[in-house]
Amino acid sequence: MNNAETFVECKDLIKIYADEKNRVRVPALRGLEMTIYKGEISLVVGPSGSGKSTLLNILAGNLKPSAGMVMVGDTDIAKFTRAEMVDYRRRRVGVVWQLPQMNLVWELTASQNIQVPMRILGLPREVRIARTKELLTEVELLDRAHHKPTQLSGGEIQRISLAVALANQPELVVLDEPTGELDSQTSEKIVNYFEKINKDLGVTMILATHDRRLIARGFRTMLLVDGRITSVRRGFVSDDKIPVYVDAFGALQIPVSLRKLFQSREDILLSRESEEIFRLYVPKKKID
Ligand SMILES: Nc1ncnc2c1ncn2[C@@H]1O[C@H](COP(=O)(O)OP(=O)(O)O)[C@@H](O)[C@H]1O
Ligand SMILES: [Mg+2]
Repeated sequence: MNNAETFVECKDLIKIYADEKNRVRVPALRGLEMTIYKGEISLVVGPSGSGKSTLLNILAGNLKPSAGMVMVGDTDIAKFTRAEMVDYRRRRVGVVWQLPQMNLVWELTASQNIQVPMRILGLPREVRIARTKELLTEVELLDRAHHKPTQLSGGEIQRISLAVALANQPELVVLDEPTGELDSQTSEKIVNYFEKINKDLGVTMILATHDRRLIARGFRTMLLVDGRITSVRRGFVSDDKIPVYVDAFGALQIPVSLRKLFQSREDILLSRESEEIFRLYVPKKKID
């Protein structure tokens, strides 16, 4: 997988939300650089508020970045007009969100839900029926075709949601914490389906998650901290190692969750313990 072809490439991606109510501007992505390879499952992990959903919404064609490049295949989707965005959403990308209500129409059966994206493209009934059957077979829920979401388990709902996301044969599937609502056993199973479909269909998948079991499976994992990818690896570091980011000026950026420990301190010392290990010495605050 090392000579893989680049499929998604973000360069200097910036998203600043205008929070009208509080009259502030919220920088969610700050010059993010990211590469995703064709046919791979990639994970985006990072603390809450680090920008995962913002990034995925941009890749899903739901949100326009403030600046930067977002190449998907050979098009820069950041430059899309509104009409091009709509077309991109319909044909080229599929999405699965954390909450089942966001993925499925509650009044429709599994089979009808899978057909919604195909109806929007105006595909003929025979095509819709045939493809729905294939997709239900792929997620092994052919026997649930005529069940409504209320008659399905949480895991089954996410499998049907994946089938909906795949209905128009997209090149890219974006999944935002798809196992977030599931118990660990069910989420383990769901991930097996993601892997199977990734192999069977060769579709590129990007998945935001907190799920440690998923991370431990060794997919290519990108760590997002404060709106930037700060490290890329397979599998993941233990709890006691928190990635930090050194910017082009040599400034060490501490994750938000730890920032209060370091605020306005000028007495912190950095020493080198060995070739790979550095120690930050933060003396106890003196009481005057
Ligand atoms: N619609 C919005 N308006 C204003 N700020 C937002 C909006 N959506 C997200 N944010 C802010 O952007 C930052 C990143 O959010 P998000 O992408 O949801 O992160 P994550 O999915 O990693 O939790 C957070 O500070 C969040 O409060
Ligand atoms: Mg999120």
